[in-house]
Amino acid sequence: MTTVPDETSESTLFTLDAVKADLMEVDAMFQACLNWNYGDRDSRVWNLYEKNKVSQWNATTDIDWDHDVQFGAELSEENGARLASFVVGEGSPVPRELLTQFRWEYQAWMCSQFLHGEQGALVTTARLVETVPDLDAKTYAASQVADEARHVEAFARYVDEKLQSVYPINPGLKTLLHDLLSESRWDIVYLGMQVVVEGLAITALRLASSGFGDPVIRQITRMVAQDEARHIAFGVTALTGMYSQVTAAELREREDFLLEAIQLMSRRFMLREVWERMDLDVAKGLHFARTNPMMATYRQMLFQQVILVLRQLDMLSDRVKDLLIAENLVRPETLRIR
Ligand SMILES: [Fe+2]
Ligand SMILES: [Fe+2]
Repeated sequence: MTTVPDETSESTLFTLDAVKADLMEVDAMFQACLNWNYGDRDSRVWNLYEKNKVSQWNATTDIDWDHDVQFGAELSEENGARLASFVVGEGSPVPRELLTQFRWEYQAWMCSQFLHGEQGALVTTARLVETVPDLDAKTYAASQVADEARHVEAFARYVDEKLQSVYPINPGLKTLLHDLLSESRWDIVYLGMQVVVEGLAITALRLASSGFGDPVIRQITRMVAQDEARHIAFGVTALTGMYSQVTAAELREREDFLLEAIQLMSRRFMLREVWERMDLDVAKGLHFARTNPMMATYRQMLFQQVILVLRQLDMLSDRVKDLLIAENLVRPETLRIR
């Protein structure tokens, strides 16, 4: 006879508490919907869905996990020594003898943030399956959820098995994910995830796929970036034309959200967690990250994709442009080109 566990027993409560310690719980009120119209098909979304189906890869078998990654090992020019070499120099908190350690810590930080962001994409896109009214969009979003599960799988295995070093989620990214999970308006979820988070991620992934120090992560980031390009296209397709039909107040709310999201994501790239873990001068590190021309150029490169999409959606308003310029996320002359 099977013994039914007593759910009020001390051991069960202890286990639940232990699980809860690893959770970020977000209360949410939103409207889930079903759509009985199976006839009208949005060919743009459906084409993306078809591409998703034939582009599936297997994180277990399509990645060469046999390669031995030695966290902390010296890097040669060919395997990533150029990465972040600018961090040694004028105003930097990193002494030359710690450059190799910095490169690995930076890689661990980036991969950890990719991993947390992938889980954010997994859960927020699952929300879209429930909330978007369009059935084609629900179908596509479900296939994106499968992609994101695979991305979480790949990054989690890499971080756990190859680096054995994980950073907690960056506070800016955590706040944005919290906002998105408590958000009831589905178009804002698209704006936050498919436009801002994935827009930043695709450039960061592409740069990582050529700059990181081992072939395993270069392969993972290259394959994930290919999927992300379709996810961004999905967001653009879903939101195109939408903001010409909303009220001025509704538009203002979307703009306010974008301003907050841009600010949160801009601060994410100050590397505070890396300076802290390496026991370096944090104030000096933050100042360096804010003012170093290479770091500023890196942030501007990341934001190029986001700006491109906001322009397509007619959401590159004066307030958004002013913030991008004030945060040095774009060169002002770029915004004048239409
Ligand atoms: Fe992803
Ligand atoms: Fe994605």
